Amino acid sequence: MSDINNTHTGHHEKLELFTQRKQDHIRLSLDDSHQTQGQSEIDKVELIHEALPEINFEEIHISQQRLGDEGKTPFLISSMTAGHNDSSRLNALLAKAASEKGWLMGVGSQRRELGDEKAAEEWRRVRAQAPQAELLGNIGISQLIYTSVDKIEKLVDSLEAKAMIVHTNPLQEALQVEGTPYFKGGLKALEQLVKQLSVPVILKETGCGFSQRTLKQVREAGVDVVDVSGLGGTHWGRIEASRAGQDSLQERAGANFANWGISTLQSLINAKEVKGEFEIWASGGVRTGIDAAKYLAMGAKVVGFAQPIIKAAMESEEALNQFMEQVEYELKIAMFCTGCVSLQNLYQKGVWTWKQH
Ligand SMILES: Cc1cc2nc3c(=O)[nH]c(=O)nc-3n(C[C@H](O)[C@H](O)[C@H](O)COP(=O)(O)O)c2cc1C
Repeated sequence: MSDINNTHTGHHEKLELFTQRKQDHIRLSLDDSHQTQGQSEIDKVELIHEALPEINFEEIHISQQRLGDEGKTPFLISSMTAGHNDSSRLNALLAKAASEKGWLMGVGSQRRELGDEKAAEEWRRVRAQAPQAELLGNIGISQLIYTSVDKIEKLVDSLEAKAMIVHTNPLQEALQVEGTPYFKGGLKALEQLVKQLSVPVILKETGCGFSQRTLKQVREAGVDVVDVSGLGGTHWGRIEASRAGQDSLQERAGANFANWGISTLQSLINAKEVKGEFEIWASGGVRTGIDAAKYLAMGAKVVGFAQPIIKAAMESEEALNQFMEQVEYELKIAMFCTGCVSLQNLYQKGVWTWKQH
């Protein structure tokens, strides 16, 4: 049985513990108490209804320019799962749906593949099922720091990835019992990756968002995309605190960090304010096509969903397809009622305002 290497501590994590954790994460993300409610702050924004839109519904198209080319939709299945017993099946299901509907799909952390070449097998199977899927690789910044660019390039190859996501999650690593809270050198590793990797680099949080201070550093590092993944949905402080066990230090501290983070809305505004050359993507608590329309109207190029997608996929393929279709339909209705025929229109027309109370 192979282990998962942790270069910082010299410890090897047993594969069973690793796969158990990945499955716990899915189960716990489905529990409502691990979701923050109403904290993305997107309800502070309103789209302005136009009673005479002067367009026909069927004219509306939601194709979007992102990552240097035109996608059929502005949507992303956010990075979730990889490297455990059920992940192959789930990923094949997600990749098939993403490919059919023209959504981007981020895979879950490819960490296991760094020390276990056989783990790449999962992606070969996914690829075989969905040859056209636009997949994005994924690795944590605390793994990136001690991994050569060549090895990351191999992760890109095994997936035939369109871009590589580096996720950053200091709150989660600090509260996870077996976490790797080693972030020193992260920015330098990121800079080097951007310079040398063959595909674009995306930096993403996992539900705690980005401050302007961090975004200014990121701007200098030259990353191609920032996916803000802010506070508002799945909360990793809550999940790790609950995994740590009753009355553990992590559980008690975690209760005080249950609302930690910068909202998705504020993170998006922060990203716009620093005026970087990076594309801005929005995720974290996005739950409907109307939420998505608001972020797109405010300048996000892509909008990502994590928990609602895994929830639907765990139910059935049909539930997954229904959720994705509903999101697309809701976006189109929001565009129709604001008189926007394209996403370019939606962004340029200034169709949003702050809600008056
Ligand atoms: C079960 C699960 C596993 C996740 N695993 C990863 C991961 O491996 N890499 C990553 O970048 N983000 C991971 N995330 C975080 C999501 O991509 C996303 O940033 C976060 O959940 C906020 O989005 P949401 O509120 O729509 O769930 C995971 C989320 C869930 C629900």
